[in-house]
Amino acid sequence: MSEKDKDEVSEAQIAVHWQEENYYHPSPQFSAQANMTDPSIFERFSLENFPECFKEYADLLTWDQYWHTTLDTSDAPCWKWFVGGKINASYNCVDRHLKQHKNKAAIIYVPEPMDEPHVTLTYQALYVRVNEMAALLRDFAGLKAGDRVTLHLPMTPDLPVTMLACARLGVIHSEVFAGFSGKACGERAADSGSNILITIDSYYRGGHLLDHQEKLADSIKASEANGQKIDKVLVFRRYPGKHSSKIPMLEGRDYFIDELLKDYQGKRVDPVSLPAEAPLFMMYTSGTTGKPKGCLHGIGGYLSYATATSKYVQDIHPEDVYWCMADIGWITGHSYIVYGPLALAASSVMYEGVPNYPDAGRPWKIAEELDVNIFHTAPTTVRMLRKAGPDEPKKYNYHFKHMTTVGEPIEPQVWKWYHEVVGKGEAVIVDTYWQTETGGFLCSTLPGFQAMKPGSAGPGMPGIHPVIFDENGNEVEQGSGIAGNLCIKNPWPGVFQTIWGDRDRYVENYFGKYCKNRDSKDWRDWPYFTGDAGMQAEDGYYRVLGRVDDVINVAGHRLGTKELESACMVVDAVAEASVVPISDELKGTVPVIYISLKPNFQASTEIEQAIIRAIESEIGKIARPRHVYIVPDMPKTRSGKIMRRVLGSISNRADVGDITTLANPEVVEEIRKMVQED
Ligand code: PRX
Repeated sequence: MSEKDKDEVSEAQIAVHWQEENYYHPSPQFSAQANMTDPSIFERFSLENFPECFKEYADLLTWDQYWHTTLDTSDAPCWKWFVGGKINASYNCVDRHLKQHKNKAAIIYVPEPMDEPHVTLTYQALYVRVNEMAALLRDFAGLKAGDRVTLHLPMTPDLPVTMLACARLGVIHSEVFAGFSGKACGERAADSGSNILITIDSYYRGGHLLDHQEKLADSIKASEANGQKIDKVLVFRRYPGKHSSKIPMLEGRDYFIDELLKDYQGKRVDPVSLPAEAPLFMMYTSGTTGKPKGCLHGIGGYLSYATATSKYVQDIHPEDVYWCMADIGWITGHSYIVYGPLALAASSVMYEGVPNYPDAGRPWKIAEELDVNIFHTAPTTVRMLRKAGPDEPKKYNYHFKHMTTVGEPIEPQVWKWYHEVVGKGEAVIVDTYWQTETGGFLCSTLPGFQAMKPGSAGPGMPGIHPVIFDENGNEVEQGSGIAGNLCIKNPWPGVFQTIWGDRDRYVENYFGKYCKNRDSKDWRDWPYFTGDAGMQAEDGYYRVLGRVDDVINVAGHRLGTKELESACMVVDAVAEASVVPISDELKGTVPVIYISLKPNFQASTEIEQAIIRAIESEIGKIARPRHVYIVPDMPKTRSGKIMRRVLGSISNRADVGDITTLANPEVVEEIRKMVQED
């Protein structure tokens, strides 16, 4: 193992701190109604039946033209699914339900303020809004199939309406989480080549109407600095007809969408019939370098995978009220608030605000009022609600049949509170492991017939064949207790197609390490590397231990350490920056920043504050560090590499290990004192 790999694994293993737990079984009542109770699905989706097995998923969709080739590997490892097929995602999520479900709630929107009523968009209402928006995008904004458009939208129904309007035209939407800074949005807009930006004047969070349009100037500036002019900015208004931002509109560039829509009232736009492998959307995520990667997802493969997993893992039936309390600005919201549930004609709840506004009983109050029976959230939120209101769920009259956790490992004691108190001992829980890149779940139990094990994600999904490789590409044996690099042996329909504009990086990052033959067109030569460390127990369940690359998971949000480090460099005084994750009771991990200054600069709180401000404006408040330490020097190897592992150990009060080979071992003790005696 090289020194680099040793560093990485030790960082990743911060998460390994609990034992294997006992099983919990789904109740007979749950199993009796579950969408999937047939264990032979794993036979049908065995590697021998790959890739044809995925026909079963594709057949959940309505195809304009049926496909002839399940998996085309001719451009390996850029996989093409269901080739020959023609399809439209907006048609599949809206139009095809009108005949039977016109009056059914598609989206139930809960604004954050307690005095604003819920808004229900029936499938008919959604159809009308999506069509009018599609007409506006086509005829006013000039968008057509294959164009990219950047959305910087929070959790109001405008967001899914816009996504589905884009999908109707074949326009590739790129939604940037509203909590990201204007600059982060502008950089992504430039990378995707969007000349249209869609935003909103304001939205509620934590009891405040935030002025979101304030971020626009930075978006435009960053986009133009990166060579992309924004021709038009389309602005939703939180209260149509009333401008809730202090930022004036720029004539000839900025337009209120509610005013433009008057010209498109009653307009209908035929869904554009697109090749199955045409892109549906892109979503930026963090990686090893400072530059976020635009993960491109294709229509037929992605939609069939999101739909099937919504059906079999989320167990959504037509009469269920399903609430995923994620933000649509992340992949979870794309797959499991919008595309998967709506393709199944479900009623999908979306909530504007924070879970603890005005108090930690809010989610349970919403569940009671709407009779939510499927609930989906991240461990960070569960930990926060458990701390802020451990007895709140008991006060509300709701019953969940099913609950999900996603995005981070969940500690068994937190899992048990979720099960006993939130789920009232009645709900099954699925711990779903996946990534922005994977489109849908990789590992989870199938809730109708597989036992749950707190702290473990579960086995591979049907048709997903995980494997743990050591550094040399040897398979680590099931039940050996040894951690390694978690990979997937085969492609699957939900996997992303490439990184926008950077195929080489796609090949290198995800396949480079374990590809046996780069000229091969055989999928068996191209195992997918997740970037996570994992361990497989005797029973076949996987435990995900954390990232082995320079990615950290803060409150379920994925951030690149390099992105944070380069944000620090914006401050003139900074010579070097190093970011390490430290364990946090609520957020899982949070970043801590170590800084060394250029000569002639003195450490000061002003510099610390400037660094925090730089991180907020370069990335967003979610990346705010716990501490900024200005150190006399970074611990370095003799070749000059910063030993992040040493900084990580100091921050987490762990043993720093052997430091005698460092170029400057004496600085380690100085830093330790500064941090641990702080
Ligand atoms: O490290 C894994 C962790 O989150 C990463 C993916 O982050 P992102 O692309 O933002 O997608 C999050 C929502 C799908 C993974 O590489 N992760 C995700 N789910 C789990 C998890 N870690 C442990 N258990 C999980 N269930």
